[in-house]
Amino acid sequence: MEKIIILDFGSQTTQLIGRRLRELNTYCEIVPYNRFPENDASVIGVILSGSPFSVNDSEAFKPDLSGIRGKYPVLGICYGAQYLAYCAGGKVEKGDSREYGRAMLSPVDTHDALMRNIPDHSQVWMSHGDTIMEVPHSLTIVAHTKDVQCAAYRIEGEKTWGVQFHPEVFHTLIGMTVLDNFLSVCGARKEWTPENFIRSTVRQLKETLGNDRVILALSGGVDSSVSAVLLNKAIGKNLTCIFVDNGLLRKNEFEKVLEDYKHLGLNVMGVDAKAYFYQALAGVKEPERKRKIIGKGFIDVFDREAQQLQNIQWLAQGTIYPDIIESLSITGTTIKSHHNVGGLPETMQLKLVEPLRLLFKDEVRQVGRALGMAEHLIRRHPFPGPGLGVRILGDITPEKVHILQEADAIFINGLHRWNLYDEVWQAGVILLPVQSVGVMGDERTYENAVALRAVTSADAMTADWAHLPSDFLAEISNEIINKVRGVNRVVYDISSKPPSTIEWE
Ligand code: XMP
Repeated sequence: MEKIIILDFGSQTTQLIGRRLRELNTYCEIVPYNRFPENDASVIGVILSGSPFSVNDSEAFKPDLSGIRGKYPVLGICYGAQYLAYCAGGKVEKGDSREYGRAMLSPVDTHDALMRNIPDHSQVWMSHGDTIMEVPHSLTIVAHTKDVQCAAYRIEGEKTWGVQFHPEVFHTLIGMTVLDNFLSVCGARKEWTPENFIRSTVRQLKETLGNDRVILALSGGVDSSVSAVLLNKAIGKNLTCIFVDNGLLRKNEFEKVLEDYKHLGLNVMGVDAKAYFYQALAGVKEPERKRKIIGKGFIDVFDREAQQLQNIQWLAQGTIYPDIIESLSITGTTIKSHHNVGGLPETMQLKLVEPLRLLFKDEVRQVGRALGMAEHLIRRHPFPGPGLGVRILGDITPEKVHILQEADAIFINGLHRWNLYDEVWQAGVILLPVQSVGVMGDERTYENAVALRAVTSADAMTADWAHLPSDFLAEISNEIINKVRGVNRVVYDISSKPPSTIEWE
């Protein structure tokens, strides 16, 4: 399958370059800047990303590009463009013409292949302290902005371009056109579609797995669910899925999700391990210990169930591409493997199969849709592995879980009712270890406080509190206090990440 290689120089937007190319139906791989796959005949072009460094920094990444330039079409972005100019003898310096944020781009050579269909005065997004101050002879300027003479250039005699703006970011309005123009130069056939992915993945899974048996831990989340459906398509009944009720799931989640999975034709074992988890967690208050107990409990239950199945050779995981990229160190020296499930016992000695390891989250959703999965399964908010266990501050009891499940269900149902569910990245309720005085009817109460948490985010790395309508919050607060026994106060969390986190523990 043809691919574009993105050499990662450490920019925060490198992953975004990858996502944009995939949106243009072109497969790409992100590799550390010094890990170009030399003998890969499927490479059709190379993109150099931005970087937190200046080319003049002693620690800047400066790989030898002689095996790449002239052989493949190359596009340098921001640092990538400056590095190519620097290698060609140009001068890159901090100048008066630093640019951050919006700038207006004017092509000077409308016949240039990269500038095709770019109107005069197009909005682009800049983020560079340095700029190309002296343009070497081999570079032809193809676009400028008011402040930067060399905003985009090509190198004569090769199919190499540099752009000092970021075509991958949303605010560069002509960014997709620039990337698409580059793909045309590369001769990309644009065959990367969910349907093609499904066809080729199912074929590969069949080849790799043959008649072997596979187990997969379902979480109810989109990644493990899509993995299961893909595997089911490839090997059918040779896939056994295990879905554990740790007593820390949302209200009726276990039953609902099991029902969904059965509709999808999956071979699922639902394991009720509530009592086991409640016992192991009794009296434990410290967040990290709770997390460890829940993690270990999951492995114990999974292991016990798996031992009862005969002849299992493979463990399937819903690892996705960002997990893989994050486990590749940019220096290229330490490559740690990613453990999605959190380390299963060595004694199981299973081989690992990860059918989604090449996909971004939005692609996983598209594949899910193409596989005919229900929209509510695909759009489900992320939910932490330790579940409500990290949303009950302090020790966990079945009674507290019940209170939280009721309050959480009111919040989530309300988000659906008000059509707000898809506008937030994730939402939930936290049971606080706080009691406060209230009055209900003629009676004084002394009961629990809960916090509502809803955030907007693109990747959970940063998040803002969701600015939900106050009428909505009023309705939810009323409903929780009126219906959930044990709660007499509701607060709304207005912290962003950073400095807070999405979960409270
Ligand atoms: P934080 O709280 O770190 O959460 O801002 C970021 C995202 O990760 C989820 N999360 C977890 N997921 N196991 C998981 O599988 C965990 O221990 C865990 N802790 C946090 C959280 O819900 C959010 O989506």
